[in-house]
Amino acid sequence: MLPAPTLPIPTRPMRLGLFYGSTLGHTAGVACRLAARLGPAVARTASVAGLTAGDLEGYDALVLGTSTWYLGALQDDWERFLGQLERADLRGVPVAFFGTGDQDGFPVTFVDAMGRLRERVAGRGADVRFGVSDDRRYDFGASRALLPDGRFCGLALDEDNQSALTDERLDRWAAQLGRELRLPREPARPRSRTLRVVGRVVDAGAFVERAAVRALRGAPIAR
Ligand SMILES: Cc1cc2nc3c(=O)[nH]c(=O)nc-3n(C[C@H](O)[C@H](O)[C@H](O)COP(=O)(O)O)c2cc1C
Repeated sequence: MLPAPTLPIPTRPMRLGLFYGSTLGHTAGVACRLAARLGPAVARTASVAGLTAGDLEGYDALVLGTSTWYLGALQDDWERFLGQLERADLRGVPVAFFGTGDQDGFPVTFVDAMGRLRERVAGRGADVRFGVSDDRRYDFGASRALLPDGRFCGLALDEDNQSALTDERLDRWAAQLGRELRLPREPARPRSRTLRVVGRVVDAGAFVERAAVRALRGAPIAR
């Protein structure tokens, strides 16, 4: 197992860009909750929908999140963004990844898109060693997001089946990124009540939409 990477001590405050693709709102909600934990280093949190290559450039580090769709595919906004990604200059930029998925419904493509996104971003010359996770509390068969040593290449979250673990996972991962990326202060639990309420509203909206999708697919509706 490779040792955790650590950046040199920065000479000025780090500026992170946190970008995500989200169809029903799960990944968007998680991104808000993560941004609150990472603190003031996060200069921008945004969906990649409608962005261009230049929007990803100029940060000291990136944190990128995607859900997985259609049996292992990238989330649609990321899929549409791929042409822009191919133009982005990410040489040497530290990047960490997070992904949402459904290990019960899609056990052999669990959070595959996180692995796919990492492959694309590594292809742009970025340093993708950051945010590797050793959490083993999942039950699935296969994932493209696994590294050869069995760890996930980033933070895997399952809002469909393990939402009760998400806060703890975010706390630990934010603290890990704080160490690896030398963020200005130890990330803390979000104090802003407004951000917590926004996160819950996004999650509730996502549940309603997900229930509708499952009803259309004839699957049982599970929280
Ligand atoms: C049609 C459909 C296909 C999906 N395919 C996968 C999949 O292959 N792997 C996986 O881990 N999750 C899969 N999921 C689950 C979603 O990734 C999960 O619900 C995620 O939290 C959605 O996040 P979002 O609302 O941010 O897009 C699928 C969900 C649906 C409805």
